[in-house]
Formats: sequence, C-alpha cells, structure tokens
Amino acid sequence: MQVIQDKNVLSAQLKKYKEDQQTIGFVPTMGALHEGHLSLVAESLKDNDITVVSIFVNPTQFDNLTDLEKYPRTLEKDIELLASLSADIILFTPTRENIYDGDITSKTYEFNGLEKVMEGAFRSGHFNGVATIVELLLRTVEPNKAYFGEKDFQQLQIIKKLVALKELPVKIIPCPISRELHGLARSSRNERLTKATREKANFIYNSLITAKSKFGTKSVQEIKESVTNLYENNSDFTLEYFEITDEDTLTPIKKIQENTKYRAFIAVYAEEVRLIDNLALN
Ligand code: PAF
Repeated sequence: MQVIQDKNVLSAQLKKYKEDQQTIGFVPTMGALHEGHLSLVAESLKDNDITVVSIFVNPTQFDNLTDLEKYPRTLEKDIELLASLSADIILFTPTRENIYDGDITSKTYEFNGLEKVMEGAFRSGHFNGVATIVELLLRTVEPNKAYFGEKDFQQLQIIKKLVALKELPVKIIPCPISRELHGLARSSRNERLTKATREKANFIYNSLITAKSKFGTKSVQEIKESVTNLYENNSDFTLEYFEITDEDTLTPIKKIQENTKYRAFIAVYAEEVRLIDNLALN
C-alpha cells in the first residue's frame, strides 16, 4: 500500500493507472476506520483495479469546534488496517492547505432543499462543507466509482445531486449501514462513548424498529409521538430530531402516499456525543 500526502503526486500516480486502463474506486473517509469503512473498501477492491482511500478530517463541515477537536484520529492504526487488506490501496492523507489550495473555506451549494432539512437544519453549513471537500476530492482522484455509506443517507443523496449538478464522471455506489452486534450503527463517534452507554445505544436502532413496526397502521404523527415518548422516558439519550421523509426528496411527510419510498431518520445525543441513524420503512 502506498501512502500519499500531496494531491499533485496522487494525480500524477493515478494518471499512470488510467493510461493503463485500470479502474479506480474511491472511498473518502475522515479516518478512525471501523468495519463500516472497511466494508466500503472491500466493495471498491472487488469492483476496481485500484482503490484510493482518503483520510481527512474536514474542518469546513464541522459547525462546532469542540466536535472537530474531539473527532477521533487514529492514523497509525488506520494505516495498519488498510495495509492488511490489500496492496492495491493508495491511502491519501492530504493536509488542509494541500487539498484546499490554501483557501480553507466552503463553497455555497443549492441542492433543491435536500440540504435544508434534518442535518442541514441542525448543523449550520455542514453540507456546504461536505460538498466542498467531496467535490475537491472527486476532482483530484477522478475515480470511476465512489463509495458512500447509507448511514449518512442525507449526505449520500446530496452527493448524488452534486455529481449530477457538476456533471462529474463518477458512479456513486451506496453501501448498506454496518451495525454493531446489537444494532448501533457503526460510526467513528462510537469510540467516544463509555462502554456502558455504548452497550445501551442499541436503544436508538430499536426506536427506529418501533417506528417501522407502526408504519402503515399508525399515522405519521402518532409514530412521531411514540418515538418522542421513548426518549422522554430514557435519561441516557436525548432526541434531537426524528423525521419520516420521502426517501428521494427527503421532505418530511404528514401523510403516507402509495408508490413512494419512505425512510425514518434520527439524531440523538448520548453523553455529549451526537449520533445519527436511519431505516427504510417500506
Ligand atoms: O462521511 C464522511 O466521513 C465525510 O462526510 C466525508 C464524505 C469523508 C467528507 O468529509
């Protein structure tokens, strides 16, 4: 496995592979790799000749400095993990100055309202930061395929929109949510939970399962109330939002229509750690 820090060095290296008709898969990450990331890398290794994994904790997508500072950084361990998977991986670990060309700010995007709800409403500027870095990374790597986890489902929809708007020649591949033994969605942030809370945090997934079990028989309002009640009666977790939306537009709904796919989304605080999850309802 090669580790490259400079985007020009990476581009030059990748150019050679492309000239040899080799396909490039790309897995962008912020590091602190867990099985969820590794499942994306495995998918990419299966589909492509070369897999580029980036590790970059992107400052412009954090609306909270403490969250940025506390984001887990485990580069040595990440390198070992990736190196153990395959020699066909290039790990890209740029500095802020290098990937942003010295101008570490977000661009402003419009994604038809996808960016305004849920994470967009609660994390000001978050999706502008995500779209800015993903656009920079995609333009640097120019992969054939790029892999994103459905845990960040809103991010995934926004990236698909970004790629369409900017006409970037890459296929976005969604990958299923990877879960811990009892259902907690895998996230680098789980590392920040105490063992006791981590063991109880399947509560979040279970609350989505409860919502799903009522979907179709109870009204959207009743489902929302029952999920809210679950959190009001549990002092370990604080609900930030729970929404049921149209899966494509991400518009929160009041009534269920036929022939439409719906998904439940949740954001919860556990000991100051913000966790998100989602589940397809039909
Ligand atoms: O999902 C993430 O880890 C990040 O938002 C991403 C896509 C790597 C951009 O920084």
